[in-house]
Amino acid sequence: MKTYRIAVIPGDGIGKELAPEGMRVLDAAARAAGGFSLEYEIFPWGCDYYVQHGMMMPEDGLKTLSTFAAIYFGAVGYPELVPDDVSLHGLLIKLRLGFDQYVCLRPSTLLPGVKSPLRGVKPGDIDFVTVRENTEGEYAGAGGRMHPGQPSELAIETAVFTRAGCERVIRYAFELARSRPRRMLAHATKSNAQKHTLTFWDQIFDEVARDYPDVKTERVLVDAMAARFVLKPGSLDVVVASNLFGDILTDIGGAITGSLGLSASGNIDPERRYPSMFEPVHGSAPDIAGKGIANPIAMAWSGAMMLDFLGEKRAGALIEAAIRAVTAEGTTLTPDLGGTATTTQVTDALVAKVNGLAKA
Ligand code: NAD
Ligand code: IPM
Ligand code: MN
Repeated sequence: MKTYRIAVIPGDGIGKELAPEGMRVLDAAARAAGGFSLEYEIFPWGCDYYVQHGMMMPEDGLKTLSTFAAIYFGAVGYPELVPDDVSLHGLLIKLRLGFDQYVCLRPSTLLPGVKSPLRGVKPGDIDFVTVRENTEGEYAGAGGRMHPGQPSELAIETAVFTRAGCERVIRYAFELARSRPRRMLAHATKSNAQKHTLTFWDQIFDEVARDYPDVKTERVLVDAMAARFVLKPGSLDVVVASNLFGDILTDIGGAITGSLGLSASGNIDPERRYPSMFEPVHGSAPDIAGKGIANPIAMAWSGAMMLDFLGEKRAGALIEAAIRAVTAEGTTLTPDLGGTATTTQVTDALVAKVNGLAKA
């Protein structure tokens, strides 16, 4: 039987509560689908680790993780303990960049039984995927602060767009669009104001598009794209965006599909040179941490994406079907979806559905 070694980094806040729940759902799916098992190693890296060791993970953290089949990540950040730029650049962003996980896949799907805050929108009406560039742009760490305390004090954050970096993620998005029935790809730009980086992005998009005459393309300014997410989400199929634009847009994607607690993501190295990493779109939610009410669905769904990526399609599909069955039923939902269930109760319901669906 095949065994996949999974590195689990629960992180901070609700990440610590959700990682074990996600593992319960993953194990249920592995048992139900059969033919493989998951072997976890848990790494207690995050803000508590920083307080003890002065760093978010050990110096050789990347080397340690490099031998795993995948990374299952909760959430990181606890601004009361550690400044956010330190904690995020010390762990999450370091892993995305260090493992060259240049594709961040973020589906926005309105699930059955879930109410969108948008008027007149029903399940089936929202079903698109954002492909977010995940290694460069405004996240490259290029820039600095100068002249502290002087009247001339300034800060610069330089967006880095390389030809290779743009081309590979845009090509990935075209391939994804081609594999979907509607074959549509919209790209978010801001070349009306950002005259170096985003004109470069537009140019590369148009060049790559020549290889995909069967895909219908659209150039949308990112501010208009934000409105489009809200006003006409049904008109979107695949969206490709640079790092910061993709970050902002996908929180809107979570909001219009009912809750950030439902939004899953994969940080992927399509060439499989390094482990890919699967995590909810949401953060550590200090406002609800420790209350046992965080929605475990985004974590479970990220696990489904991980199984799918590992080639365990049936197990991944079982988790997705279980999620749909739980939301459709509507009796076991956390407060973000208007319910009164706890994190554990929703996980129990997911596990029961995985088992039931496998027998059906
Ligand atoms: P957040 O996503 O943690 O929370 C935003 C809102 O959504 C909060 O009201 C929260 O209660 C709610 N929410 C999030 N996940 C939920 C869930 N599973 N169930 C129910 N409600 C949920 O964003 P924030 O408050 O801006 O950030 C908190 C911390 O997390 C910061 O340190 C931030 O930098 C970090 N962060 C980390 C990640 C990550 O690890 N991938 C992502 C985003 C933010
Ligand atoms: C996300 C988060 C991260 C990002 C933060 C925490 C650095 O918001 O995964 O969406 O901006 O990528
Ligand atoms: Mn984000």
